[in-house]
Amino acid sequence: MDIKSIIDKIYETSEATIDEITAILASKETDYLFSVADHTRKEYCKDKIHLRGIIEFSNYCRCECLYCGIRCHNRSLQRYRMELDEIVETAKAAYEIGYKTIILQSGEDLWYTREKISSLIRRIKALGDVAITLSLGERDYEDYKQWKQDGADRYLLKHETADEDLYNRLHPHSSFKKRLQCLRWLKKLGYQPGSGFMIGLPGQNLTTIAKDILLLKELDVDMAGIGPFLPHPATPLGENHAGSGLLTLKALAVARILLKRTHLPATTALEVQNRNNRENAFHAGANVIMRKVQASKYRQLYDIYPKKSIVEKDLKQEKAEIESYIQKIGRQIADDRGDAIPLI
Ligand code: 5AD
Repeated sequence: MDIKSIIDKIYETSEATIDEITAILASKETDYLFSVADHTRKEYCKDKIHLRGIIEFSNYCRCECLYCGIRCHNRSLQRYRMELDEIVETAKAAYEIGYKTIILQSGEDLWYTREKISSLIRRIKALGDVAITLSLGERDYEDYKQWKQDGADRYLLKHETADEDLYNRLHPHSSFKKRLQCLRWLKKLGYQPGSGFMIGLPGQNLTTIAKDILLLKELDVDMAGIGPFLPHPATPLGENHAGSGLLTLKALAVARILLKRTHLPATTALEVQNRNNRENAFHAGANVIMRKVQASKYRQLYDIYPKKSIVEKDLKQEKAEIESYIQKIGRQIADDRGDAIPLI
């Protein structure tokens, strides 16, 4: 079968094999792929882009992920923790200027006990009709259960790579099995679950990426972040090459055509790597964008991968900028919370 027929088949059946996806990823022909992905996005998500406000409230992390700049062994990084009051104030300011989803993200930092996170969720939910996405890594089943009862709506936990051996090498403190178990718990507990993976990890190949996309389907996630690996100098993978932006866009497009209704962000890593790729992502299936909303003194310290210095802007100015950008590319900011999209 030629590439166009494979793409049509995946679009029509919402099924794909590893070989079919690998063939698409290997092909140099991208116009048709991106146009079918864009068409699918329009069918399921219309022209609406969901804006999510992310609060990266602590860069303490107990993990040793070989690619990540906030890994516990990076002693050169200044660490910070935001107080609960400060986190709620930040969420309030973001909510008041129109963010309808607040993502609470941190390193795996057990200083924030089950009770502290519960209190955060309750206080933020009391602000009004706002969705909360948690992104706190691997925790106990009982933690996840309590936080769902407190009102958390969604949970982001990327599977990072679907190659079990590679996963285990990159994450010496945990295991692929544990990761999948957490994702299955989250689904069972009624969260809108989110996953995702990186493109260009050393040891990964196109077959791995095909498995990554199929794992998103198997897990039946409501959102998925796909971004390039960016080498961080203070990590064991600091000398490796960055993942390809084009390959990331192709994986995003295949994910849209296969999964149809899943929220797919133009990831920050893609944007940091190459500004133009943000726009390309919005024409290759993406329908979500996230903005950091914590005080700028913390932003540079949330140093998972290298990024250029941040120009200080206030929250309002930043939101106005993203709104005008979205209009410029012919899309609109959604005025709803952007919960899971049902299959048509
Ligand atoms: N390059 C790209 N993405 C990274 N992440 C962590 N480190 C890197 C890196 N060096 C991503 C992972 C993680 C999320 C918080 O950031 O996918 O889940």
